[in-house]
Amino acid sequence: MAQQNRPHIMLASLTLAGASRYPSALGHLVRTAALAAYLANVLELDDAEQERIYLVAPVHDIGKLGIPDDVLFKPASLTDAEHEIMQRHSNIGADLLAGTADPLLQMAASVARHHHEHFDGSGYPDGLAGEGVPLAARIVAVADAFDAMLEPRVYRPGMPEDNALQALADQSGRYFDPAVVDCFLKNVSRVRRIRAATEDLVQQYGDVSGVIRFYGGRGQSPGFFRHIQAL
Ligand SMILES: [Fe+2]
Ligand SMILES: [Fe+2]
Repeated sequence: MAQQNRPHIMLASLTLAGASRYPSALGHLVRTAALAAYLANVLELDDAEQERIYLVAPVHDIGKLGIPDDVLFKPASLTDAEHEIMQRHSNIGADLLAGTADPLLQMAASVARHHHEHFDGSGYPDGLAGEGVPLAARIVAVADAFDAMLEPRVYRPGMPEDNALQALADQSGRYFDPAVVDCFLKNVSRVRRIRAATEDLVQQYGDVSGVIRFYGGRGQSPGFFRHIQAL
């Protein structure tokens, strides 16, 4: 495989590693990435940047590999101390991805570190605000939150889509960049199509083959990325 595709291989491996931690995690990771790519597209970022965001988004939570089971899998809300432990996943993820000269992996590290920053500065780990939060992280934050709200958890059922959309609108300008939320709400039927196609990818091919297809396999430009761009 050509040298320039090594970052893709590494990101694909890390995506699988992250997904191995608990069942059904992969669906969330790749749906988040597909929705982030949709947002990058509606925001009219250039094509290469849209693709970079797609490629790095699945490793946003890779730092959860370093969170102890009793916190990560607690079937109830977390205590303050447990929250603090959980929040470490941002830094752990950034540390796992850091130290490379490769721009794609640098972007992955930045998204891992900053995807829980809030637009009003109330997030973590650095309390960055507004456009001080890297754009890719602002995009992944919205995609991640939406998909997470729709997913059932041990301690709660999945939220109805209308409520999740309302929650994004409510937190626009607080947690989330209003420009990104506006783009998300612009074409909800496209959001649905992209989410469903990405769900199918995992259902149809399973984790390993699904991830290979997500990253384009054999060093080609990601076929699935092109596929969802056209939806
Ligand atoms: Fe996270
Ligand atoms: Fe997530």
